[in-house]
Amino acid sequence: MHASKTPLRTPNAGTPTAARRANAAACGGGSLDIDQRVQAISWQDVETGLDQVGCAVIRHLLGSAECDALTALYGRADLYRSRVIMGRHGFGRGEYQYFSYPLPDIIEELRAAIYPHLVPMANRWNEAMGISVRYPSRHAQFIRRCHDAGQVRPTPLILQYGQDDYNCLHQDLYGEHVFPLQAAILLSQPGDDFTGGEFVMTEQRPHMQPRAEVVALGKGDALVFTVNQRPVRGTRDYCRVAHRHGVSRLHSGQRHTVGIIFHDSK
Ligand SMILES: [Fe+2]
Repeated sequence: MHASKTPLRTPNAGTPTAARRANAAACGGGSLDIDQRVQAISWQDVETGLDQVGCAVIRHLLGSAECDALTALYGRADLYRSRVIMGRHGFGRGEYQYFSYPLPDIIEELRAAIYPHLVPMANRWNEAMGISVRYPSRHAQFIRRCHDAGQVRPTPLILQYGQDDYNCLHQDLYGEHVFPLQAAILLSQPGDDFTGGEFVMTEQRPHMQPRAEVVALGKGDALVFTVNQRPVRGTRDYCRVAHRHGVSRLHSGQRHTVGIIFHDSK
């Protein structure tokens, strides 16, 4: 989330092995076939959405029980490296926690499985925007690049919002190395678990007023969206369009999401 001011608060209390075993038990562990699910996604549709508006919805990526198991991890302080109370930093209202390594199996699997499908798009976008950076085909290779540059802290996180909580518009930039796309998965059921609290993304084109996109998600749906900038074809050439994202105020209930950011943090 709001990378520049995140305090390091909660040390990893468990051993890596113990933490991984606990995560696997809580989330269903190896019985999850994340790879096959991710392979079955129409990545062409995702690419079209990202090219047209800067974000794309993947429906029903996680089942309801998987969402509930991830939500239940929020109370497990030993799984996290940092807890951020947004109101203390001017980020909004609500809170979130960054996972420690090793990540819960389901988060690790999603991060590794989704990344390769986004690499061709990320490289194409950089080429169109005149940015020389190209991304390796596997996530482990990209994470090595982050770690070699001192970006060693994991960025996947769970966010928790209650009534009247919200998340100010922001970008999740955590250092020099930035993968230009990220994913968020809604873990709660709109209408039943909460009301209000919609994902909002703004688009800032050169010399124009910002445009807002509001995305209606269901429990278990994933949203892939632009971290920073994307290319939009102008009359002669591509221009860079800047995006920010946030969450509108919850009217009632409680809302959890998991965020999967592909670069690590300084
Ligand atoms: Fe964010």
